[in-house]
Amino acid sequence: MIGLRDFSIKNKLVLMQVLTCVLVLGLCFAAFVITDINGYKGRKVASTISFAQVIGSNSISAIQFLDNEAAEKTLFDLQEVETDVVNASIVDSRGKIFAAYTRPNQTTHVFKPPFRNRHWFDDQYLYVYKNIVDQQGQIFGTVCLQVELSQLEAIKKQKFEIAFVLLFVGIALAFLIAYLNQRYISAPILNLVNVMKQIRENSDYSRHVDVIGKDEISILSSEFNNLMDEVANSHRKKDEFIGIASHELKTPLTSVKLYLDALSKMKHEPLVHTFILKSKDGVKKLHNLILDLLDVSKIESGQLQLNHKDLSIDDLIDECIQDAQMNIVNHTILREGTKCDKIIHGDRDRLEQVLINLLSNAAKYSPNGTSIAVKTVTSDNDITVSVTDSGIGIAGSEHKKIFGRFYRAKDSNSVISGFGLGLYICSQIIKRHKGKIGVDSQEGKGSTFYFTLPLNGEQKLS
Ligand SMILES: Nc1ncnc2c1ncn2[C@@H]1O[C@H](COP(=O)(O)OP(=O)(O)OP(=O)(O)O)[C@@H](O)[C@H]1O
Ligand SMILES: [Mg+2]
Repeated sequence: MIGLRDFSIKNKLVLMQVLTCVLVLGLCFAAFVITDINGYKGRKVASTISFAQVIGSNSISAIQFLDNEAAEKTLFDLQEVETDVVNASIVDSRGKIFAAYTRPNQTTHVFKPPFRNRHWFDDQYLYVYKNIVDQQGQIFGTVCLQVELSQLEAIKKQKFEIAFVLLFVGIALAFLIAYLNQRYISAPILNLVNVMKQIRENSDYSRHVDVIGKDEISILSSEFNNLMDEVANSHRKKDEFIGIASHELKTPLTSVKLYLDALSKMKHEPLVHTFILKSKDGVKKLHNLILDLLDVSKIESGQLQLNHKDLSIDDLIDECIQDAQMNIVNHTILREGTKCDKIIHGDRDRLEQVLINLLSNAAKYSPNGTSIAVKTVTSDNDITVSVTDSGIGIAGSEHKKIFGRFYRAKDSNSVISGFGLGLYICSQIIKRHKGKIGVDSQEGKGSTFYFTLPLNGEQKLS
């Protein structure tokens, strides 16, 4: 079942305003109906008491002369003036019925003592007792009337009909106004959410939310902007640190690498030679990491320079496969499908870096002895290069994330070493070539990484 919490803010605002309107209108109408009914009852009491008084005055002589007939005639005549009277009785001063009247086809009502001035209501009738008093204040008896509240139902019906129509119109208007007004609250919140999403997706911390007005949402937006400034600042400082540290590390490491190269070419005892090779291996890993960190720092500071030239995609792929195969000794890299015979405009070194990265990942994340396939597919406007392995694969939920900085898929974290930089650098290089990079993969079945480059202005090589 959908709870109130699952409603969007927009719907919650509309619902709240409509409910408030229903409540206020309902209370107003209840007060309006109750006042009307009470007014009608009050008027009825006043007019019935006046009637009782008239009957009493007209009956004094009949009571004095014990003339029941005259008293009953008085009561009978009454029905022509007040048609709502159902039962009427004149009770003498000893409490005995002196004269009585019952409207035709109605049940006779027996009036009960105490016979003194009073009135009350039940569901449908008003009961009025009025003492018969002469001018000297002597009490001769009591006039008792049972009066039908004939208009009460009609009044109720009419008021409820009006209330229903006005309530309906009120709700419709409240809905319309609420729907138009909710934008003032929900639109800035949705805008804030959209900006947050964009920041998360593009890691663009320089993005700001427009702050309009001075309400709480504006304060929230402004605080959010301040927060993003802080985040952007700390990112900048971190990038600066990475840039400086990797630059400072690169120089001594390059010397160590050269000395180790030289040492490895000399004659040594086998154990010393093994140590030198292991040191070379470690230094190579460190060197690659520093180069990646330097690239990240260049990308982040917008200083990644590309040197675009026309180049043959087939030559590029062949060279990369050759280079990569020298380092990847436990896998076979195969060029599959037909050659594409196309040239593209791009930075050769950087595109090689992308392909080598994809090939080394394919080898790193698939079992030894398996093969890696490189394929090209061309269309009128672009060319797609893909690298397929039969390795550990990647869960669907991670397909987008692995192209982020320092991101490593959960399964690979503990087993295989890495920093989560390779694909980030690849994605930035391809982006700078106005291309696209992506992955198709299933956990446990292998992955196909691909990048697509535009063929604008391409010519066939002769
Ligand atoms: N061919 C592949 N098969 C399975 N998972 C892969 C493959 N290529 C990349 N991944 C996943 O994507 C993550 C990011 O890859 P990326 O190349 O950016 O980093 P890395 O290989 O972990 O480290 P490095 O910075 O050394 O390249 C990897 O940690 C791994 O989880
Ligand atoms: Mg990698």
